Amino acid sequence: MKFFRRFKILGTGAYLPEKVLTNADLEKIVDTSDEWIKTRTGIEKRHIAREDEATSDLIIEAAKEALRNAGLAASALGAIIIGTISPDTFFPSTGCWVQKGLDVPGIPAFDVSAACSGFLYGLEVGSLMLSSIAKPILVAGADILSKITNWEDRGTCVLLGDGAGAVIIAPTDEDRGFLSSILGADGSLGELLIQPAGGSRMPASHETVDKKLHLLYMKGNEIFKYAVRTMGDAAIQAIKLAGVDPDNISLFIPHQANTRIIEATCRRAKVPLDKTHITISWHGNMSAGTIPIAFHDAISKGLIKRDDLVLFAAFGAGFTWGASVLRF
Ligand code: COA
Repeated sequence: MKFFRRFKILGTGAYLPEKVLTNADLEKIVDTSDEWIKTRTGIEKRHIAREDEATSDLIIEAAKEALRNAGLAASALGAIIIGTISPDTFFPSTGCWVQKGLDVPGIPAFDVSAACSGFLYGLEVGSLMLSSIAKPILVAGADILSKITNWEDRGTCVLLGDGAGAVIIAPTDEDRGFLSSILGADGSLGELLIQPAGGSRMPASHETVDKKLHLLYMKGNEIFKYAVRTMGDAAIQAIKLAGVDPDNISLFIPHQANTRIIEATCRRAKVPLDKTHITISWHGNMSAGTIPIAFHDAISKGLIKRDDLVLFAAFGAGFTWGASVLRF
């Protein structure tokens, strides 16, 4: 075997805001239909954060559940890593706000900005840090996209939602952890999915606010084909590097952006659709939140057993992508 990075998953958790926005609700906001959204995306509803709820608030709830499932107190943590593109504040990082909320001062806490691939980037960083930290690490993926959504653009607003997922990883001598992990990026595709204003390229001004340039813009059609190619090819590479066959994969947990993208990715990577966990119908695209939430859901439903091989794959703004094979 070419590659093995040992770690174990001690616990997982997830949190979705209380408010639910259905496709029927969206029919009253933009010119769309439940039928169009369901057939083109697979989404039936999404959760929307309260005005006073920030990304760290969702993560803290998910993290508490993950800690409970791990049988750990927050004080056992050695680091906090957050994948997000909708931080509470640009600085301090969301990781620092989560650390404050969990009341564990002193340990390193930071964000990883890789959009929808943020959780897989975070898991890679976390798994590498375990050898030096030698204590459990909280890795979360979370986004509140509703606060950067253009609610007048039917091409994007029907796709997005809010939510957080968390995992606690820990060192182990057992033969479990990453059999492979692939990360990649292509910054030349950055304009396809972007929040144009609010950074140093285009600082906030009355004009940027009036023109809604702090919101998320995407060229959905173009993204679709890159998504299938990058996520599919990353999955193929991860399976190959792990030295296994697609048939050996017990469960595939892809980024949940569109059911049609997931189906096309499965065809490309030759992973059976009936071994693929699709949860998009009840939450939409929550960027870095989708994979850890789907992972938690699969574990909670008993779909993943000890020693099972789990394949993850994601793509997102940047473009970024990632895929890994995990022995649970
Ligand atoms: N309701 C009804 N009609 C809509 C609509 C909506 N919410 N959004 C777009 N349409 C219309 C378009 O205006 C277009 O109409 P026209 O033919 O009269 O011009 C028609 O539906 C088809 O649009 P098109 O963009 O070709 O649809 P599509 O099948 O490509 O689906 C997406 C659009 C956005 C769902 C799809 O391209 C997609 O999922 N892309 C990837 C986006 C993504 O995953 N982004 C996040 C990456 S992490």
